[in-house]
Amino acid sequence: MIAANWKMNGVRAHSRSLAKEIITFAAKYKEQGWRIVLFPPATLLHSLNDICNDEMLGAQDCHHELEGAYTGSVSASQLRDGGAGFVLIGHSECRARGDDDALIGLKLDTALKAGLKPILCVGESLAIRDRGEAVDFVKKQICSMPLPYAIAYEPLWAIGTGHIPDKKDIEQMHKAIGQSGIKRILYGGSVNGENAASLASIEGVGGLLVGGASLNAADFITILKEVSSSLAMRERNR
Ligand code: PGA
Repeated sequence: MIAANWKMNGVRAHSRSLAKEIITFAAKYKEQGWRIVLFPPATLLHSLNDICNDEMLGAQDCHHELEGAYTGSVSASQLRDGGAGFVLIGHSECRARGDDDALIGLKLDTALKAGLKPILCVGESLAIRDRGEAVDFVKKQICSMPLPYAIAYEPLWAIGTGHIPDKKDIEQMHKAIGQSGIKRILYGGSVNGENAASLASIEGVGGLLVGGASLNAADFITILKEVSSSLAMRERNR
């Protein structure tokens, strides 16, 4: 899976043309079996329904209750109704606004109940990595959670910074996450056209979660091309 997290960016006209360009390109590579999922702001979901089915659309967060007096919030069932098939839960930007493990667990439960496929985002800070505690920290973020559809490993210090971990650290983390029984594990944090092929070739990396570079069709398509050739090479070397 190559996921495009548009965060709080875009309005209808631009998002529709961006989605169209991406989906048209991705259709050519369908037979390679990788899936593109767009995560627009919730208000844009409906406007993309004629371009993307629910296997190509996700939301960025949801409330932990399915309905009720929660002014300003959007529920998992509303997102499902809006055409989303997936939802990100526990993104570091949501954790920074106060989502703790208890709330994230409730959100995962609610997303599953609403029929969404949740992608749990995990990742350590630089201080934790420097102390050599990254793997234990991430394992703890996962161990008490309901089983998500996928996990996205996104080190906090790699998001939007242009810095990415060493290949061996990503491989080690994905291996550790895989021990939790989750088979779909994405890497996220400063993915771009230059590093996508190398990231996609790392053992255990089953996809990428792309933020900033997914807001521009040419940049995102470069990532898709790079991943595609990296997968083709992996296949040839088998
Ligand atoms: P980035 O964001 O690609 O801009 O680093 C990734 C994310 O926050 O999901």
